[in-house]
Amino acid sequence: MAERPRVFVALRWPMEALARIDAECEMRRYEGPGGQASREALIAAVSDVEGLMGSAQLAVDAEVLDAAPKLRVVSNFGVGFDNVDVAAATERGVLVCNTPGVLTDAVADLTLGLVIDLARKVVEAERIVREGQWAAGRGIMGNDLRGKTLGIVGFGRIGRAVAQRARAFGMQVCFHDVFEDPGAEFSDCAHRSLDDLLREADFVTLHVNLTDETEKLIGARELALMKPTAYLVNTARGPIVDEAALVRALEEKRIAGAGLDVFEHEPKVSAALLALSNVVLTPHLGSAVRELRESMAHIVVDNIVAVLEGRRPPNCWNAEIYSF
Ligand code: 8YV
Repeated sequence: MAERPRVFVALRWPMEALARIDAECEMRRYEGPGGQASREALIAAVSDVEGLMGSAQLAVDAEVLDAAPKLRVVSNFGVGFDNVDVAAATERGVLVCNTPGVLTDAVADLTLGLVIDLARKVVEAERIVREGQWAAGRGIMGNDLRGKTLGIVGFGRIGRAVAQRARAFGMQVCFHDVFEDPGAEFSDCAHRSLDDLLREADFVTLHVNLTDETEKLIGARELALMKPTAYLVNTARGPIVDEAALVRALEEKRIAGAGLDVFEHEPKVSAALLALSNVVLTPHLGSAVRELRESMAHIVVDNIVAVLEGRRPPNCWNAEIYSF
């Protein structure tokens, strides 16, 4: 009997889709502490595998790739794949896959949730009620969303889904991206330079990939352009924002507040951020939706199975390295 390809699943979450890998491959699962393999556990596990199910929080760099000489595919559980060194993978003939599309609504919903919270201070009020400070809670005053401007940095799938939701709240939408014409469906959304968007928006939300170009895209200079009444929301990737500069802007009340689902050094949240009252912090929950995770798992498996069967994977960033 021919040897079955080996696949390492670095995540511990239950996923029914894995039965499809199990049926065709020798599947190895991470069983250690935490939700996913540590870097050391990953390096130790990949020496003879052809497929790897990774995650946005697990770096797959040249060192990991060199520890996996038989690897043919890294299939990331997530739309982001900044954790993978795609150039290093390409050089070594390893395909890099992700799960776009299915989590668009989930991330857009969470983004609007943070916008609404910043406007109406739900988290702060809830804490005050629990502390028995009803009268103090009644003193909280929020802001309307109707008529406010939402500035969307990165107008791809998720940015557009955020725009659709913002419309329903009566917000004006402007966006920044490399293209200026968003097409007929979004003709009410005005293109702006990044600086103009930052000057104009009451809420700024980030929906770009993390790349060398977008790392620290929002730093001290950019934060200084924002209105003192404006809020920053980040559900994309932490390093897009210079976190130290953001902390300073929040401490000095140079912007009104921030809603953050992602952090520069995840899973570490800086003590300085935790000490601030004008921030709402969630633990990278963008795709944490019960109905969605299984769909993501199926896409991850589709990608792996396709490569191991010699077919072109449906969601691949460097498929050009093979002629499928
Ligand atoms: C993570 C995400 O993948 O899809 C992404 O890019 O950031 C998330 O959905 C999720 O936390 C699993 O690691």
